[in-house]
Amino acid sequence: MEQAPKSAFVIFGVTGDLTARKLMPALYQLHVEGVLHPETSIVGYARSQNDDTALRESMKKALKTYVKGFNVKAWESLAKRITYIQGTYDDVKGFKELAKHLEDLKQENRIFYTSTPPATYTGIVKGLAEAGLARSEGGFSRVVIEKPFGIDLETAKDLNIQVLEHFAEDQVYRIDHYLAKETAQNLSALRFANTLFEPIWNNKYIDHVQVTMTEPMGVEGRGSFYEEAGVIRDVFQNHLLQLLALVAMEPPSRYDAKSVRDEKVKVFSAMECLDLNHAVMGQYVAGNGMKGYRDEEGVNPRSRQATYAAATFKINNWRWADVPFYMRSGKRLGDKASEIVLRFKKPPHIPFDVPNSMISDRLVFRLVPNEGISFRFNAKEPGQHFKMDRVSMNFYYDKEFDRPAPDAYETLILDVMQGDATLFMRADEVEAQWRIVDPLLEQWEKSKKDPAFYSAGTPGPSQADEMLERAGRYWHKPGNGK
Ligand code: BG6
Repeated sequence: MEQAPKSAFVIFGVTGDLTARKLMPALYQLHVEGVLHPETSIVGYARSQNDDTALRESMKKALKTYVKGFNVKAWESLAKRITYIQGTYDDVKGFKELAKHLEDLKQENRIFYTSTPPATYTGIVKGLAEAGLARSEGGFSRVVIEKPFGIDLETAKDLNIQVLEHFAEDQVYRIDHYLAKETAQNLSALRFANTLFEPIWNNKYIDHVQVTMTEPMGVEGRGSFYEEAGVIRDVFQNHLLQLLALVAMEPPSRYDAKSVRDEKVKVFSAMECLDLNHAVMGQYVAGNGMKGYRDEEGVNPRSRQATYAAATFKINNWRWADVPFYMRSGKRLGDKASEIVLRFKKPPHIPFDVPNSMISDRLVFRLVPNEGISFRFNAKEPGQHFKMDRVSMNFYYDKEFDRPAPDAYETLILDVMQGDATLFMRADEVEAQWRIVDPLLEQWEKSKKDPAFYSAGTPGPSQADEMLERAGRYWHKPGNGK
């Protein structure tokens, strides 16, 4: 793999959870693999009183917790390049100090990562600009913005205006880590590097598409964030819509930032979310020894916030007219799973004497667990009679390749260092995504209905099953090749 250029990687909010769980482990792995330039500097920036030694100690502790096979020697060679700057997010003083520090470090290529609450984003870009850090003379200056990017179309537009006042679009990297998951990328490989699938990838052969993301966790101490966000803003507007776009977009002429994002924007522009009659908004209550959402810290005891949703989307173009796209996701749903399922139509004529209920073929892309792709189809059972059974062709990542798939954050950090924005969201793209979910959010906020309650640790509200049953369909049970 090509080595990243020499740069300074500045993390705003370095004392937070995302740095400990994702950013630092990713930087460490890139360092171990020799992909990180040996003179990379990592600069932590946060409000609290801290110093280089204390930051290094807390990062070491995080790595010991989150990295398998932590190696002290490798750590020591990285640790000495980690430094700390204390400052606020709304006062230019801290940013000026940061600018001086970067000069002292002789780092002309700079990456600024906002691992902070969304309310700080505009202060950070303004502070960087005022301290002269948004300019890319003599080296590059790039800013990485974490999700959520706004809370609706209006706020996202506003944030884009504020960010783009100081940075050019090609300096801005809006992150959605789902795009860097191996299976998400493999979806494009399967579609565009093989001849077999593309001719049947349309409404003539595909009955419907399902995107599922289930999580066993609750809101994990993020009650007040979740009260604002809910499942639609937290994962539908970004992760799930992005996966859906990868399924639905037209083949790009090149796999680069402009071509891929142009195609995704086209799909988002043709997409609509059907109303609440074709959706289910749910919320977990106590069950299986776990507390209910309304009992979580920071949550209003009468909250109507959705911790689960199932919704129906349509794409109004020639390829996808009349093919429903169903999406569902929720917290406290038993096991962790993320997958995309394409259900094919039944053959137009079946010459065998088999029951009418014969199931049609299905292609499954699993992101978690058992990362891979499975095709499930009908085959003849052994014997003199002509009886059908269901069989699978499976591709499992860990069986085919002897190196583990990198964490999404490793891929994304390396991409920012190398200036490749293909897996990041463009301004118009993020706005197009809000345009799709905003009407559903508005309807839900206006309706006074209670959410569909489901017990923690179960597969979710039965209303979601009924939603598909009404259309003569059913949800795929995630988890394996079957
Ligand atoms: C985050 C959401 O973006 O994605 C979390 O804010 C969610 O609520 C997480 O748990 C899931 O990511 P992953 O990679 O663990 O599937």
